[in-house]
Amino acid sequence: MIIIMLGAPASGKGTQSVVVAQKLGVPHISTGDIFRWNIANNTPIGTEAKKYIDKGMLVPDELTIQILKDRIEMEDCKDGFVLDGFPRTINQQESLDSMLAECKKSIDMAINLAVTDNEVIRRISGRRMCKCGKAYHIVTYPPKTAGICDLCNGELYTRKDDTVEVANTRLEAYKLQSEPIIAVYREKGILVDIDGHKPQDEVSEDVLNEIEKYSSKQGVV
Ligand code: AP5
Ligand code: MG
Repeated sequence: MIIIMLGAPASGKGTQSVVVAQKLGVPHISTGDIFRWNIANNTPIGTEAKKYIDKGMLVPDELTIQILKDRIEMEDCKDGFVLDGFPRTINQQESLDSMLAECKKSIDMAINLAVTDNEVIRRISGRRMCKCGKAYHIVTYPPKTAGICDLCNGELYTRKDDTVEVANTRLEAYKLQSEPIIAVYREKGILVDIDGHKPQDEVSEDVLNEIEKYSSKQGVV
């Protein structure tokens, strides 16, 4: 199955993508994580992406589409994947459709995690990350030991773009460039709206229920 996770910054795309990918046994592909890996490893892609990410702006389509194409062509994606943070522009959405059409594949479901602007800012200002990918919130989802990941004992850190100022720019970029994609998938009849304000486990339950309903209709899983 090919699932797209849509939503504003900090709407829970990463958190829910991990759950869905594990359930379906397919890779979780986050363009944000790929860029952050490149930045941490000082690659030319990282140097270019950093100029935009640190300011809360989208990385140009040309670079983003190429890294996504290279990733989904990998062997582990042959049975499907969960996309987190891609597509984020109409151009990316159209490119993805063409890439998939070339290999006779298509998107099964686009999941829209809906949250308010205030909740976006609240979540971003309290988020702590682990290098294993697990996200915490200092108030709502604190780790058992402050600053340490429950899963791998890694040291938690704050993302460089998780300041209130950059968060506002990210939210603006989302509204202008990414939100219009929701209407495209709705028109195609593959969009599912999920209330992203519920507690994480309830959101996961809602998301997995929708996938289950779709799968039994299609006979996919
Ligand atoms: P990216 O890494 O994708 O960031 P984002 O879209 O801003 O989303 P986040 O990762 O901040 O949030 P999330 O939705 O994954 O939420 P999470 O699960 O962590 O992109 C970063 C940057 O890279 C972009 O700004 C851009 O510059 C660039 N980029 C990436 N892709 C690109 C593309 N395709 N094109 C161009 N540029 C691109 O949860 C957030 C917090 O909330 C956590 O603390 C979590 O614990 C908490 N939380 C989660 N669920 C709940 C819940 N139900 N209730 C309460 N708290 C919750
Ligand atoms: Mg994320």
